[in-house]
Amino acid sequence: MVGLGPRKPPSRRGSMADVPKDLLDQINRLEELFTVPQEKLKQITDHFVSELTKGLTVEGGSIPMNPTWCMGFPDGYETGTFLALDMGGTNLRVCEINLPEEKGEFDIIQSKYRMPEELKTGTADELWDYVADCLQQFIEYHHEGEELDQLPLGFTFSYPATQEYIDHGVLQRWTKGFDIEGVEGKDVVPPFEAALAERGVPIKLTALVNDTTGTLIASAYTDTDIKIGCIFGTGCNAAYMEDCGSIPKLAHMKLDPNLPMAINCEWGAFDNEHKVLPRTPYDIIIDKESPRPGQQSFEKMIAGLYLGEIFRLVLVDLHGNPDVKIFDGQDIGKLKKAYSLDASFLAQIEEDPFENLSETQDLFANKLSITTSKPELELCRRLAELIGTRAARLSACGVAAICKKKGISSCHVGADGSVFNKYPHFKARGAQALREILDWPKGKKDPIEILPAEDGSGVGAALISALTLKRCKEGQTAGIRDPEAMLSGIKAAEPKKT
Ligand code: GLC
Repeated sequence: MVGLGPRKPPSRRGSMADVPKDLLDQINRLEELFTVPQEKLKQITDHFVSELTKGLTVEGGSIPMNPTWCMGFPDGYETGTFLALDMGGTNLRVCEINLPEEKGEFDIIQSKYRMPEELKTGTADELWDYVADCLQQFIEYHHEGEELDQLPLGFTFSYPATQEYIDHGVLQRWTKGFDIEGVEGKDVVPPFEAALAERGVPIKLTALVNDTTGTLIASAYTDTDIKIGCIFGTGCNAAYMEDCGSIPKLAHMKLDPNLPMAINCEWGAFDNEHKVLPRTPYDIIIDKESPRPGQQSFEKMIAGLYLGEIFRLVLVDLHGNPDVKIFDGQDIGKLKKAYSLDASFLAQIEEDPFENLSETQDLFANKLSITTSKPELELCRRLAELIGTRAARLSACGVAAICKKKGISSCHVGADGSVFNKYPHFKARGAQALREILDWPKGKKDPIEILPAEDGSGVGAALISALTLKRCKEGQTAGIRDPEAMLSGIKAAEPKKT
Protein backbone atom coordinates (compact mmCIF):
# COMPACT_ATOMS: atom_id res chain seq x y z
CA MET A 1 0.00 0.00 0.00
CA VAL A 2 1.15 3.50 -0.72
CA GLY A 3 2.06 5.82 2.11
CA LEU A 4 2.27 3.21 4.85
CA GLY A 5 5.97 3.46 5.49
CA PRO A 6 7.54 2.91 8.88
CA ARG A 7 6.78 5.60 11.46
CA LYS A 8 9.56 7.54 13.00
CA PRO A 9 9.53 6.82 16.71
CA PRO A 10 8.68 7.96 19.25
CA SER A 11 6.11 10.64 18.41
CA ARG A 12 5.00 13.00 15.72
CA ARG A 13 2.88 15.84 16.88
CA GLY A 14 1.92 16.66 13.29
CA SER A 15 -0.29 13.60 13.15
CA MET A 16 -2.69 15.17 15.63
CA ALA A 17 -4.10 17.44 12.89
CA ASP A 18 -7.37 15.52 12.52
CA VAL A 19 -7.91 14.82 16.18
CA PRO A 20 -11.20 16.36 17.43
CA LYS A 21 -11.07 18.94 20.19
CA ASP A 22 -12.34 16.71 23.02
CA LEU A 23 -9.57 14.17 22.41
CA LEU A 24 -6.95 16.84 21.81
CA ASP A 25 -7.82 18.46 25.13
CA GLN A 26 -7.39 15.09 26.79
CA ILE A 27 -4.06 14.49 25.08
CA ASN A 28 -2.89 17.86 26.40
CA ARG A 29 -4.14 17.02 29.87
CA LEU A 30 -2.36 13.65 29.82
CA GLU A 31 0.83 15.31 28.63
CA GLU A 32 0.63 17.67 31.59
CA LEU A 33 0.00 14.78 33.97
CA PHE A 34 2.63 12.34 32.77
CA THR A 35 5.51 14.56 31.65
CA VAL A 36 8.34 14.90 34.14
CA PRO A 37 10.42 17.95 33.24
CA GLN A 38 14.14 18.32 33.90
CA GLU A 39 13.73 20.40 37.04
CA LYS A 40 11.39 17.84 38.57
CA LEU A 41 13.82 15.02 37.74
CA LYS A 42 16.53 16.90 39.59
CA GLN A 43 14.30 17.54 42.57
CA ILE A 44 13.31 13.85 42.73
CA THR A 45 16.95 12.80 42.47
CA ASP A 46 18.03 15.07 45.30
CA HIS A 47 15.30 13.77 47.57
CA PHE A 48 16.26 10.24 46.50
CA VAL A 49 19.87 10.81 47.62
CA SER A 50 18.76 11.80 51.11
CA GLU A 51 16.35 8.87 51.31
CA LEU A 52 19.10 6.39 50.35
CA THR A 53 21.21 7.80 53.16
CA LYS A 54 18.31 7.72 55.59
CA GLY A 55 17.64 4.07 54.79
CA LEU A 56 21.11 3.21 56.08
CA THR A 57 20.55 4.81 59.48
CA VAL A 58 19.36 3.06 62.62
CA GLU A 59 16.01 4.89 62.45
CA GLY A 60 15.65 4.02 58.78
CA GLY A 61 13.36 5.58 56.21
CA SER A 62 11.00 4.27 53.59
CA ILE A 63 13.72 2.74 51.38
CA PRO A 64 14.85 -0.42 53.22
CA MET A 65 18.55 -0.35 52.08
CA ASN A 66 19.10 -3.97 53.07
CA PRO A 67 22.69 -5.12 53.73
CA THR A 68 23.16 -8.38 51.83
CA TRP A 69 26.38 -9.83 53.27
CA CYS A 70 27.74 -10.00 49.77
CA MET A 71 31.02 -8.38 50.71
CA GLY A 72 33.01 -7.57 47.64
CA PHE A 73 33.21 -7.85 43.89
CA PRO A 74 34.47 -10.93 42.10
CA ASP A 75 37.96 -10.74 40.60
CA GLY A 76 37.08 -12.94 37.64
CA TYR A 77 38.98 -15.93 39.00
CA GLU A 78 36.19 -17.49 41.07
CA THR A 79 35.85 -21.21 40.43
CA GLY A 80 33.56 -24.11 41.25
CA THR A 81 30.20 -25.66 40.53
CA PHE A 82 27.07 -24.16 42.00
CA LEU A 83 23.34 -24.43 41.78
CA ALA A 84 21.19 -21.37 41.42
CA LEU A 85 17.48 -21.07 41.88
CA ASP A 86 15.50 -18.07 40.71
CA MET A 87 12.00 -17.61 41.98
CA GLY A 88 10.97 -14.84 39.61
CA GLY A 89 7.45 -13.68 38.91
CA THR A 90 6.60 -15.83 35.90
CA ASN A 91 9.10 -18.66 35.89
CA LEU A 92 11.09 -20.67 38.29
CA ARG A 93 14.54 -21.29 36.94
CA VAL A 94 17.09 -23.79 38.19
CA CYS A 95 20.66 -23.58 36.93
CA GLU A 96 23.93 -25.36 37.43
CA ILE A 97 26.83 -23.04 36.87
CA ASN A 98 30.42 -24.02 36.45
CA LEU A 99 32.98 -21.28 36.94
CA PRO A 100 36.17 -22.57 35.29
CA GLU A 101 39.69 -21.31 35.95
CA GLU A 102 39.63 -18.95 32.95
CA LYS A 103 38.94 -15.37 33.97
CA GLY A 104 35.35 -14.19 33.67
CA GLU A 105 34.13 -17.42 32.04
CA PHE A 106 31.17 -19.61 32.95
CA ASP A 107 29.16 -22.58 31.69
CA ILE A 108 25.55 -22.94 32.57
CA ILE A 109 22.84 -25.55 32.20
CA GLN A 110 19.33 -24.64 33.16
CA SER A 111 15.72 -25.73 33.30
CA LYS A 112 12.70 -23.48 33.49
CA TYR A 113 9.49 -24.37 35.24
CA ARG A 114 6.32 -22.37 34.91
CA MET A 115 5.34 -20.66 38.14
CA PRO A 116 1.61 -21.42 38.39
CA GLU A 117 -0.36 -18.19 38.80
CA GLU A 118 -2.35 -19.66 41.74
CA LEU A 119 0.87 -20.09 43.70
CA LYS A 120 1.24 -16.31 44.01
CA THR A 121 -1.81 -16.10 46.22
CA GLY A 122 -1.77 -19.66 47.57
CA THR A 123 -0.30 -21.00 50.79
CA ALA A 124 3.31 -20.98 51.94
CA ASP A 125 3.43 -24.80 51.98
CA GLU A 126 2.30 -24.98 48.38
CA LEU A 127 4.99 -22.52 47.41
CA TRP A 128 7.89 -24.30 49.13
CA ASP A 129 6.70 -27.73 48.01
CA TYR A 130 6.61 -26.56 44.43
CA VAL A 131 10.06 -24.96 44.62
CA ALA A 132 11.59 -28.05 46.26
CA ASP A 133 9.95 -30.35 43.69
CA CYS A 134 11.50 -28.37 40.85
CA LEU A 135 14.96 -28.55 42.44
CA GLN A 136 14.57 -32.28 43.06
CA GLN A 137 13.55 -32.87 39.46
CA PHE A 138 16.51 -30.86 38.20
CA ILE A 139 19.00 -32.82 40.29
CA GLU A 140 17.48 -36.19 39.43
CA TYR A 141 17.56 -35.34 35.75
CA HIS A 142 21.09 -33.95 35.59
CA HIS A 143 22.77 -36.15 38.19
CA GLU A 144 20.95 -39.43 37.81
CA GLY A 145 22.59 -42.22 39.77
CA GLU A 146 25.42 -40.05 41.10
CA GLU A 147 26.54 -40.09 44.74
CA LEU A 148 26.31 -36.41 45.51
CA ASP A 149 27.93 -34.27 48.15
CA GLN A 150 25.85 -31.35 49.26
CA LEU A 151 25.59 -28.96 46.34
CA PRO A 152 25.95 -25.28 47.24
CA LEU A 153 22.94 -23.26 46.16
CA GLY A 154 22.44 -19.53 45.64
CA PHE A 155 18.74 -18.77 45.93
CA THR A 156 17.59 -15.62 44.17
CA PHE A 157 14.59 -14.44 46.11
CA SER A 158 13.65 -11.09 44.61
CA TYR A 159 11.61 -9.53 47.34
CA PRO A 160 12.62 -7.27 50.22
CA ALA A 161 14.24 -9.36 52.94
CA THR A 162 16.28 -8.31 55.96
CA GLN A 163 19.35 -10.50 56.14
CA GLU A 164 21.14 -10.99 59.41
CA TYR A 165 23.19 -13.61 57.63
CA ILE A 166 23.82 -14.36 54.01
CA ASP A 167 21.71 -17.52 54.13
CA HIS A 168 18.83 -15.94 56.00
CA GLY A 169 16.09 -13.55 54.98
CA VAL A 170 13.05 -12.23 56.78
CA LEU A 171 10.55 -11.18 54.14
CA GLN A 172 9.58 -7.61 54.93
CA ARG A 173 6.53 -7.73 52.69
CA TRP A 174 5.51 -9.22 49.40
CA THR A 175 5.85 -7.01 46.33
CA LYS A 176 4.95 -7.42 42.64
CA GLY A 177 1.44 -8.70 43.30
CA PHE A 178 2.47 -11.71 45.40
CA ASP A 179 0.27 -12.29 48.40
CA ILE A 180 1.05 -15.60 50.11
CA GLU A 181 -0.14 -15.72 53.66
CA GLY A 182 2.13 -16.52 56.57
CA VAL A 183 5.44 -15.60 54.92
CA GLU A 184 5.76 -11.87 55.66
CA GLY A 185 7.78 -11.15 58.77
CA LYS A 186 9.35 -14.63 58.75
CA ASP A 187 12.65 -16.12 57.70
CA VAL A 188 12.01 -17.80 54.35
CA VAL A 189 15.01 -20.12 54.63
CA PRO A 190 13.82 -22.70 57.22
CA PRO A 191 10.60 -23.72 55.40
CA PHE A 192 12.54 -23.87 52.14
CA GLU A 193 15.25 -26.07 53.70
CA ALA A 194 12.61 -28.22 55.40
CA ALA A 195 10.92 -28.90 52.06
CA LEU A 196 14.31 -29.95 50.62
CA ALA A 197 15.13 -32.12 53.63
CA GLU A 198 11.75 -33.86 53.38
CA ARG A 199 12.68 -34.93 49.88
CA GLY A 200 16.29 -35.75 50.74
CA VAL A 201 17.58 -33.27 48.14
CA PRO A 202 21.35 -32.87 48.71
CA ILE A 203 21.56 -29.08 48.75
CA LYS A 204 23.26 -26.61 51.06
CA LEU A 205 21.89 -23.08 50.84
CA THR A 206 24.96 -20.86 50.67
CA ALA A 207 23.36 -17.51 49.83
CA LEU A 208 19.99 -15.86 49.65
CA VAL A 209 20.33 -13.29 46.89
CA ASN A 210 18.25 -10.45 45.55
CA ASP A 211 18.08 -10.25 41.74
CA THR A 212 19.68 -6.78 41.79
CA THR A 213 22.66 -7.98 43.84
CA GLY A 214 23.03 -10.96 41.51
CA THR A 215 22.96 -8.60 38.55
CA LEU A 216 25.55 -6.31 40.14
CA ILE A 217 27.94 -9.17 40.83
CA ALA A 218 27.41 -11.07 37.57
CA SER A 219 27.99 -7.93 35.55
CA ALA A 220 31.05 -6.95 37.55
CA TYR A 221 32.51 -10.42 36.82
CA THR A 222 32.93 -9.47 33.16
CA ASP A 223 33.07 -5.65 33.37
CA THR A 224 35.10 -3.98 36.12
CA ASP A 225 33.43 -0.59 35.45
CA ILE A 226 30.13 -1.88 36.84
CA LYS A 227 29.13 -0.11 40.04
CA ILE A 228 25.35 -0.61 40.12
CA GLY A 229 23.00 -3.48 39.28
CA CYS A 230 19.40 -2.68 38.33
CA ILE A 231 16.26 -4.57 37.48
CA PHE A 232 13.65 -2.88 35.32
CA GLY A 233 11.11 -5.68 34.98
CA THR A 234 7.90 -6.73 36.71
CA GLY A 235 9.39 -4.83 39.66
CA CYS A 236 12.11 -2.20 39.76
CA ASN A 237 15.08 -2.01 42.09
CA ALA A 238 18.85 -1.60 42.38
CA ALA A 239 21.90 -2.72 44.34
CA TYR A 240 25.32 -1.11 44.75
CA MET A 241 28.42 -1.56 46.86
CA GLU A 242 28.56 0.52 50.05
CA ASP A 243 31.35 0.62 52.59
CA CYS A 244 30.48 -0.70 56.04
CA GLY A 245 31.58 2.58 57.61
CA SER A 246 28.68 4.33 55.83
CA ILE A 247 26.04 1.96 57.20
CA PRO A 248 25.16 3.29 60.67
CA LYS A 249 22.60 0.54 61.20
CA LEU A 250 25.45 -2.00 61.16
CA ALA A 251 27.69 0.01 63.52
CA HIS A 252 26.94 -2.36 66.42
CA MET A 253 28.65 -5.16 64.50
CA LYS A 254 31.97 -3.30 64.60
CA LEU A 255 32.91 -4.29 61.07
CA ASP A 256 35.99 -2.81 59.44
CA PRO A 257 34.61 0.48 58.02
CA ASN A 258 36.48 -0.07 54.77
CA LEU A 259 34.91 -3.45 54.05
CA PRO A 260 32.51 -3.42 51.10
CA MET A 261 28.89 -4.49 51.50
CA ALA A 262 26.37 -4.80 48.70
CA ILE A 263 23.15 -3.01 49.54
CA ASN A 264 19.85 -4.13 48.10
CA CYS A 265 18.14 -0.73 48.05
CA GLU A 266 14.54 -1.88 47.53
CA TRP A 267 14.04 1.52 45.96
CA GLY A 268 10.55 0.57 44.82
CA ALA A 269 9.53 1.94 48.22
CA PHE A 270 10.93 5.40 47.44
CA ASP A 271 8.56 8.23 48.35
CA ASN A 272 5.96 6.08 50.08
CA GLU A 273 5.25 9.27 52.02
CA HIS A 274 4.39 11.09 48.74
CA LYS A 275 6.73 14.05 49.03
CA VAL A 276 8.08 14.43 45.50
CA LEU A 277 6.76 11.97 42.96
CA PRO A 278 4.24 13.52 40.57
CA ARG A 279 1.48 10.97 41.14
CA THR A 280 -1.56 11.10 38.87
CA PRO A 281 -5.09 10.09 39.91
CA TYR A 282 -4.39 6.82 38.07
CA ASP A 283 -1.34 6.05 40.21
CA ILE A 284 -3.49 6.62 43.26
CA ILE A 285 -6.07 4.08 42.07
CA ILE A 286 -3.36 1.49 41.32
CA ASP A 287 -2.08 1.86 44.84
CA LYS A 288 -5.49 1.70 46.49
CA GLU A 289 -6.52 -1.44 44.63
CA SER A 290 -3.21 -3.25 45.13
CA PRO A 291 -2.73 -5.97 47.76
CA ARG A 292 -0.34 -3.63 49.67
CA PRO A 293 -1.66 -0.04 49.53
CA GLY A 294 0.84 2.60 50.62
CA GLN A 295 3.82 0.40 49.66
CA GLN A 296 6.15 0.53 46.63
CA SER A 297 5.03 3.99 45.49
CA PHE A 298 7.93 4.46 43.10
CA GLU A 299 7.67 0.94 41.70
CA LYS A 300 3.97 1.35 41.01
CA MET A 301 4.74 4.27 38.66
CA ILE A 302 7.52 2.61 36.69
CA ALA A 303 7.58 -1.18 36.82
CA GLY A 304 6.33 -3.55 34.15
CA LEU A 305 3.58 -4.98 36.31
CA TYR A 306 1.84 -1.60 36.40
CA LEU A 307 2.47 0.08 33.03
CA GLY A 308 -0.41 -1.64 31.23
CA GLU A 309 -2.68 -1.05 34.18
CA ILE A 310 -2.00 2.70 34.23
CA PHE A 311 -2.84 2.81 30.51
CA ARG A 312 -6.03 0.81 31.04
CA LEU A 313 -7.20 3.03 33.89
CA VAL A 314 -6.77 6.17 31.78
CA LEU A 315 -8.81 4.71 28.92
CA VAL A 316 -11.58 3.49 31.20
CA ASP A 317 -11.71 6.94 32.80
CA LEU A 318 -11.91 8.71 29.43
CA HIS A 319 -14.64 6.36 28.22
CA GLY A 320 -16.68 7.18 31.31
CA ASN A 321 -16.23 10.93 30.87
CA PRO A 322 -19.36 12.44 29.26
CA ASP A 323 -17.31 15.26 27.71
CA VAL A 324 -15.06 12.87 25.83
CA LYS A 325 -16.07 10.66 22.95
CA ILE A 326 -13.84 7.59 23.00
CA PHE A 327 -14.91 4.07 22.01
CA ASP A 328 -18.34 5.65 22.00
CA GLY A 329 -21.25 3.24 22.33
CA GLN A 330 -18.94 0.22 22.45
CA ASP A 331 -18.85 -2.56 24.98
CA ILE A 332 -15.56 -2.04 26.85
CA GLY A 333 -16.12 -5.05 29.14
CA LYS A 334 -12.73 -6.57 28.37
CA LEU A 335 -10.94 -3.28 28.98
CA LYS A 336 -12.68 -3.02 32.33
CA LYS A 337 -10.92 -6.09 33.68
CA ALA A 338 -8.12 -5.05 36.06
CA TYR A 339 -4.60 -6.01 34.94
CA SER A 340 -5.90 -7.29 31.60
CA LEU A 341 -3.19 -5.34 29.77
CA ASP A 342 0.48 -5.87 30.45
CA ALA A 343 3.52 -3.81 29.52
CA SER A 344 3.91 -5.75 26.28
CA PHE A 345 0.59 -4.27 25.10
CA LEU A 346 2.07 -0.79 25.43
CA ALA A 347 5.33 -1.95 23.90
CA GLN A 348 3.46 -3.22 20.85
CA ILE A 349 1.64 0.09 20.47
CA GLU A 350 4.90 2.00 20.66
CA GLU A 351 6.41 -0.36 18.11
CA ASP A 352 3.61 0.02 15.58
CA PRO A 353 5.61 1.11 12.53
CA PHE A 354 2.67 2.28 10.43
CA GLU A 355 1.45 5.83 9.91
CA ASN A 356 -2.16 4.71 10.21
CA LEU A 357 -1.41 2.72 13.38
CA SER A 358 -2.99 -0.35 11.84
CA GLU A 359 -1.18 -2.74 14.20
CA THR A 360 -2.55 -0.86 17.18
CA GLN A 361 -5.98 -1.03 15.63
CA ASP A 362 -5.64 -4.83 15.31
CA LEU A 363 -4.42 -5.07 18.87
CA PHE A 364 -7.50 -3.30 20.21
CA ALA A 365 -9.78 -5.38 18.00
CA ASN A 366 -8.22 -8.73 18.85
CA LYS A 367 -7.43 -8.28 22.51
CA LEU A 368 -10.23 -5.99 23.64
CA SER A 369 -12.92 -6.30 20.92
CA ILE A 370 -12.84 -2.52 20.53
CA THR A 371 -13.03 -0.74 17.18
CA THR A 372 -10.81 2.32 17.08
CA SER A 373 -10.87 5.48 14.96
CA LYS A 374 -7.67 7.14 13.81
CA PRO A 375 -7.90 9.94 16.42
CA GLU A 376 -8.49 7.35 19.17
CA LEU A 377 -5.44 5.46 17.98
CA GLU A 378 -3.40 8.65 18.05
CA LEU A 379 -4.45 9.23 21.64
CA CYS A 380 -3.54 5.65 22.60
CA ARG A 381 -0.16 5.92 20.94
CA ARG A 382 0.60 9.18 22.70
CA LEU A 383 -0.56 7.77 26.01
CA ALA A 384 1.69 4.72 25.66
CA GLU A 385 4.62 7.01 24.88
CA LEU A 386 3.88 9.17 27.88
CA ILE A 387 3.64 6.23 30.28
CA GLY A 388 6.73 4.51 28.87
CA THR A 389 8.72 7.74 28.90
CA ARG A 390 7.74 8.60 32.44
CA ALA A 391 8.84 5.13 33.58
CA ALA A 392 12.26 5.48 31.97
CA ARG A 393 12.81 9.02 33.24
CA LEU A 394 11.80 8.30 36.81
CA SER A 395 13.95 5.15 36.81
CA ALA A 396 16.94 7.28 35.83
CA CYS A 397 16.44 9.34 39.02
CA GLY A 398 17.28 6.28 41.09
CA VAL A 399 20.46 5.57 39.13
CA ALA A 400 21.52 9.21 39.30
CA ALA A 401 20.81 9.27 43.04
CA ILE A 402 23.09 6.30 43.78
CA CYS A 403 25.84 7.88 41.69
CA LYS A 404 25.44 11.21 43.48
CA LYS A 405 25.39 9.58 46.88
CA LYS A 406 28.57 7.63 46.18
CA GLY A 407 30.30 10.46 44.32
CA ILE A 408 30.48 8.31 41.18
CA SER A 409 31.09 10.49 38.13
CA SER A 410 31.60 7.70 35.63
CA CYS A 411 30.64 4.01 35.64
CA HIS A 412 28.64 1.27 34.01
CA VAL A 413 25.31 0.15 35.37
CA GLY A 414 24.28 -3.46 34.66
CA ALA A 415 20.56 -3.68 33.97
CA ASP A 416 18.20 -6.55 33.37
CA GLY A 417 14.45 -7.18 33.30
CA SER A 418 11.72 -7.34 30.71
CA VAL A 419 11.12 -3.58 30.55
CA PHE A 420 14.81 -2.80 30.08
CA ASN A 421 15.30 -5.55 27.50
CA LYS A 422 12.06 -5.35 25.58
CA TYR A 423 10.28 -2.03 26.04
CA PRO A 424 10.98 0.20 23.02
CA HIS A 425 13.12 3.32 23.63
CA PHE A 426 13.42 2.60 27.36
CA LYS A 427 17.22 2.69 27.22
CA ALA A 428 17.42 5.86 25.12
CA ARG A 429 14.85 7.66 27.26
CA GLY A 430 16.66 6.68 30.45
CA ALA A 431 19.99 7.87 29.03
CA GLN A 432 18.42 11.18 28.01
CA ALA A 433 17.04 11.66 31.53
CA LEU A 434 20.46 10.97 33.05
CA ARG A 435 21.94 13.68 30.82
CA GLU A 436 19.28 16.12 32.00
CA ILE A 437 19.74 15.26 35.68
CA LEU A 438 23.51 15.26 35.72
CA ASP A 439 24.06 18.12 33.23
CA TRP A 440 26.73 16.41 31.16
CA PRO A 441 28.36 18.49 28.44
CA LYS A 442 26.78 17.85 25.05
CA GLY A 443 28.55 15.93 22.31
CA LYS A 444 30.69 13.75 24.58
CA LYS A 445 30.26 10.09 25.44
CA ASP A 446 27.96 9.65 28.44
CA PRO A 447 30.14 8.99 31.50
CA ILE A 448 27.45 6.84 33.15
CA GLU A 449 25.90 4.19 30.94
CA ILE A 450 23.15 1.69 31.68
CA LEU A 451 24.06 -1.51 29.83
CA PRO A 452 22.50 -4.97 29.46
CA ALA A 453 23.64 -7.11 32.39
CA GLU A 454 24.99 -10.61 32.69
CA ASP A 455 22.66 -13.25 34.09
CA GLY A 456 22.30 -12.17 37.70
CA SER A 457 20.06 -14.87 39.09
CA GLY A 458 22.17 -17.66 37.57
CA VAL A 459 25.80 -16.60 37.30
CA GLY A 460 25.38 -13.83 39.88
CA ALA A 461 23.92 -16.15 42.50
CA ALA A 462 26.69 -18.70 41.83
CA LEU A 463 29.38 -16.04 42.17
CA ILE A 464 27.94 -14.81 45.44
CA SER A 465 28.07 -18.38 46.76
CA ALA A 466 31.65 -18.69 45.54
CA LEU A 467 32.67 -15.39 47.14
CA THR A 468 31.00 -16.36 50.39
CA LEU A 469 32.66 -19.77 50.56
CA LYS A 470 36.00 -18.19 49.71
CA ARG A 471 35.88 -15.62 52.49
CA CYS A 472 34.50 -18.20 54.90
CA LYS A 473 37.52 -20.39 54.16
CA GLU A 474 39.79 -17.42 54.77
CA GLY A 475 38.17 -16.86 58.16
CA GLN A 476 36.23 -13.72 57.19
CA THR A 477 32.98 -14.89 58.63
CA ALA A 478 30.95 -11.66 59.03
CA GLY A 479 27.34 -12.46 58.22
CA ILE A 480 27.99 -16.21 58.07
CA ARG A 481 25.86 -17.84 60.73
CA ASP A 482 27.51 -21.26 60.84
CA PRO A 483 30.85 -21.27 59.03
CA GLU A 484 31.33 -25.01 59.47
CA ALA A 485 27.97 -25.87 57.96
CA MET A 486 28.66 -23.37 55.20
CA LEU A 487 31.94 -25.08 54.36
CA SER A 488 30.19 -28.39 53.97
CA GLY A 489 29.13 -26.96 50.61
CA ILE A 490 32.72 -26.42 49.55
CA LYS A 491 33.66 -29.90 48.43
CA ALA A 492 31.02 -30.04 45.76
CA ALA A 493 31.89 -26.51 44.76
CA GLU A 494 35.45 -27.37 43.90
CA PRO A 495 36.33 -26.72 40.26
CA LYS A 496 35.71 -29.60 37.92
CA LYS A 497 38.91 -30.95 36.46
CA THR A 498 38.34 -31.28 32.74
C1 GLC B 1 10.59 -5.73 43.63
C2 GLC B 1 11.22 -6.51 44.77
C3 GLC B 1 12.73 -6.43 44.71
C4 GLC B 1 13.22 -6.83 43.33
C5 GLC B 1 12.53 -6.02 42.25
C6 GLC B 1 12.93 -6.46 40.86
O1 GLC B 1 10.89 -4.39 43.80
O2 GLC B 1 10.76 -6.01 45.99
O3 GLC B 1 13.31 -7.26 45.68
O4 GLC B 1 14.59 -6.63 43.26
O5 GLC B 1 11.12 -6.16 42.39
O6 GLC B 1 12.62 -7.80 40.63
